[in-house]
Amino acid sequence: MLIELVIFLSAFKRAYDIRACGLRIFLILKNYYRTFSALLRWRRIPVLKGLIPDDKISDIKNSADIIEIISESVLLKKGGRNFLGLCPFHSEKTPSFTVSPDKQIFKCFGCGEGGNVFTFIMKQEGISFPEAARMLANRYGIEIPTQSMTPDQKKRMTEREDLFSINSRAMNYFHYNLTKNAAGGKAKAYLAGRGLTEDMINGFKLGFALDGWDNLVNTLKHKKVSLKLAEKAGIIIEKERGYYDRFRNRIIFPIFDAGMQVTGFGGRVLDDSLPKYLNSPETPVYNKSRSLYGLHRSRQKCRDTGIVYIVEGYMDYLSLCRYGIDNTVATLGTALTPDHVRSLRGYSGETLKAVLVYDSDEAGIKAAQRSIGVFQAGHIDDFILVLPSGYDPDSYLVKFGQESFLKEAAGAKSGFRFLIESAIKKHTLSFEGKPRVIEEMLDPLSSITDSVKRAICIKELSEQTGVEERAISEKARQFSASKASGYRNQAVSHHPRTDPGRGRQAYSGRWNKMEKQIITMMLQYPDILKEIETKNVLDRFEESTMKAVGELLIRKKSNAADVSDLLSWAEDPEQRQIIAELAIGEEVWDHEGCLGLIKQFLSSRRRSETALLSAIKKAEENDDQELLIKLLNEKQTQARGLETENQDSAGGESL
Ligand code: CTP
Ligand code: MN
Repeated sequence: MLIELVIFLSAFKRAYDIRACGLRIFLILKNYYRTFSALLRWRRIPVLKGLIPDDKISDIKNSADIIEIISESVLLKKGGRNFLGLCPFHSEKTPSFTVSPDKQIFKCFGCGEGGNVFTFIMKQEGISFPEAARMLANRYGIEIPTQSMTPDQKKRMTEREDLFSINSRAMNYFHYNLTKNAAGGKAKAYLAGRGLTEDMINGFKLGFALDGWDNLVNTLKHKKVSLKLAEKAGIIIEKERGYYDRFRNRIIFPIFDAGMQVTGFGGRVLDDSLPKYLNSPETPVYNKSRSLYGLHRSRQKCRDTGIVYIVEGYMDYLSLCRYGIDNTVATLGTALTPDHVRSLRGYSGETLKAVLVYDSDEAGIKAAQRSIGVFQAGHIDDFILVLPSGYDPDSYLVKFGQESFLKEAAGAKSGFRFLIESAIKKHTLSFEGKPRVIEEMLDPLSSITDSVKRAICIKELSEQTGVEERAISEKARQFSASKASGYRNQAVSHHPRTDPGRGRQAYSGRWNKMEKQIITMMLQYPDILKEIETKNVLDRFEESTMKAVGELLIRKKSNAADVSDLLSWAEDPEQRQIIAELAIGEEVWDHEGCLGLIKQFLSSRRRSETALLSAIKKAEENDDQELLIKLLNEKQTQARGLETENQDSAGGESL
């Protein structure tokens, strides 16, 4: 305020210059507006945070170990004091996703994503902070009062939990029907006939939906479960006169997510009637293009073996398990999606070989064509295993056993190789056939983005067809170019797939080096906070975000809060980025060094301030109004520490 007054008066001194005066008033108002809107933004924070009491948040934080939580979806390897893995939020080949057990935070140096255990869950599940907090609270048995929430917030937050709980009740009911209810006898006999043991039935919580229209509806009514919610969970269906059961007279396969919660169900008839399988519809907790049957149970084996078998159905999956091939998952009536591949890769680590097991050439070809690009983008090597005609994985194992299956699997061809051979079978290697084979391989080739892999595939195609590599390369290049221009023309811009990391990294490059270093020091060597405070170091900061992080550190660290706490407190995503990035390093700080850095910073700031002051003086002497106003404005922003851009222009250039 005082500074403004002085600056205003200095402009007023030359009141004959109306223009300068008006400009001055405008600048002052502008600055007030900035401060005011910053204040408004600040006010929103406690309102948001108030939903869950702080002590509950720290209870959750103290119970939830970030390594444990992240390990459920990402394979982490120890490297120094931190853990490293492949980032689950972007596609990468070499691990740049870092997790610090000491600080309980994560940071991806590839895409910039970073935060604490809450942020991780939020990002991964696509849910809000309160939802993530409640999810973790549930898991660790921490009660969270809900009275502070509006009914709407309460509703949204608890809906997912309610759906899981309804699903879990339904699962138990179906399982009871199969194992304890006499009416489940025929279902039990059917499963026994298909070779499923009691252990497996219990392990996978298989169940039976009784014959009839309202068995489940009545049970839910009896237990006072909301039918509206049960309908939302997809287990009952609404009609004009009421509700009826979706699954009737069917074997039930519950589908679990990685956290062992029941997301949905599949149901198989006991005979040849149609449809053979009926599945849960998409619900807020069930998405079939993200779910893989059996992943919750198989992921450790996939990690250990570096191989995952992907089959098409519940029974095939259970059969492979029964024959001791545990590194298996099943898709649920969909083609493989990038989400499937991403979660497989996360669970399995750097080198994973996916073997897609199909029961016919035709199914295999279709799958290979569709999924080759998906696997390539996910950096997973894909192989296709087509079983002898007439067999699916289940019936093959029953007939020939595990050893034969594994032998077949060892001979599985790479997806690309498989497609070449299929194309040759179709077109032959005649004079007219060859170009068609090449033509057909251009699309799969174009989906291989890794240049080395692409070169290997071109070589293979050349060897198989006798067409020169150079000619194939040229064709492939033309094809990729026309495909790219086709995409451009299709105006796919409604889905802008920009690299999430790039912008952020560019931003972090813009951060003032010395300010960044000071914040790093504050994060990694909290003993220095007092010194920062007494010397008013933050007041000399030019970048508002850095300054805000520093202020947060001083405010919160005095209560012995740790880095992970700070991440919960920093509502601004950019502040979180800074904290996670700067805290995760492993530099060693000593007190002397820290004091030196502070001294260096302060004297450099003083130098630039002196330079600015003398520039102002000179401008006054020369009566250069325009320059003077510019410099005064700079002085003001410098004093407030509000300037975020062109920090080096202050004074220096205008001298
Ligand atoms: N599927 C489906 N809806 C159908 C048929 C099949 O969702 N009407 C899905 C199921 O996930 C099923 C998979 O596709 O598990 C494979 O179907 P299919 O090969 O027909 O059945 P199997 O797995 O061989 O089942 P079973 O051995 O019991 O006949
Ligand atoms: Mn089958």
